[in-house]
Amino acid sequence: MSAAKEKNTNPTLAEQADRHVLYQYSVQAPEAEVEFMDKTFRELRGRAPLSMKEDFCGTAFLSVEWCKSDPDRTAIGVDIDKPTLDWGLKNNIEAAGNDIAKRVTLIESDVRDIIEPKVDVTCAFNFSYCLFEKRDELRGYFEQARKGLKEDGLLVLDLFGGTECEDVIEEETELEEAPATYVWEQVSFNPIDHHMECAIHFDFDDDSRLENAFTYAWRLWAIPEIKELLEEAGYKKVRVYWERYEDTDDDDDELEGTGEYYEVTEVENQESWMVYIVAEV
Ligand SMILES: C[S@@+](CC[C@H](N)C(=O)[O-])C[C@H]1O[C@@H](n2cnc3c(N)ncnc32)[C@H](O)[C@@H]1O
Repeated sequence: MSAAKEKNTNPTLAEQADRHVLYQYSVQAPEAEVEFMDKTFRELRGRAPLSMKEDFCGTAFLSVEWCKSDPDRTAIGVDIDKPTLDWGLKNNIEAAGNDIAKRVTLIESDVRDIIEPKVDVTCAFNFSYCLFEKRDELRGYFEQARKGLKEDGLLVLDLFGGTECEDVIEEETELEEAPATYVWEQVSFNPIDHHMECAIHFDFDDDSRLENAFTYAWRLWAIPEIKELLEEAGYKKVRVYWERYEDTDDDDDELEGTGEYYEVTEVENQESWMVYIVAEV
């Protein structure tokens, strides 16, 4: 067989890729999320949080990190998609060893059906709850999440926004961990109902592409809407945490996120931001 022909039969990098591995490299930051939940819970409740429920857990990457952070910690991961849970069980939970594996429980279910056992913290990250596009649906989820929390429990959410978030854009980030570029695409946005479609693609160094590795259909909720729905769902206090930005050493006056979050009630808008929203039972 000629060299050219042989080359054609080799699988491309896109064909060899595992989309969950690439997702974890590019989208998730479980250490930072554990640190935020731990610090905020201690500040608000004066004790260490031990039990955590990760709603919409996907591969349960965060649940594993939570249990790694303290030998007394336990996690419950809830997701409706069995193949994704199976991937997480094999590649994240079992791979972390027996001590971690016995402290992570996976439940295949709609997040709205799980209110036991009660936990210190429930989180829903990477905006997953935004798939509930109607007020009643989202309030219903928040009510169920509240029922699943202990008396001093916290619900922790993230949300993105900013002046650029309604635009159709593509943003590229080169990955350090793989010969690939992560592409975040805001495919469409309807200003009438705030329905938004987004997609994640991966471009590889051999010019192959994993198109639509993940796709999302969401409502782009605003912070005050989420706050009001949480209050209507019975939470006593809702706080918003904004990222601290600092001047970089460069001359271009650009500010860089520090990964540290602090509570705010008024800020200047930015092109793009990600906040944590913390609701107290
Ligand atoms: C955007 S991923 C989030 C993964 C992970 N939490 C993260 O931070 O990257 C959304 C996940 O929600 C799951 N999902 C969608 N609707 C659900 C529901 N009603 N109940 C439970 N899981 C659901 C999907 O199967 C998918 O794994």
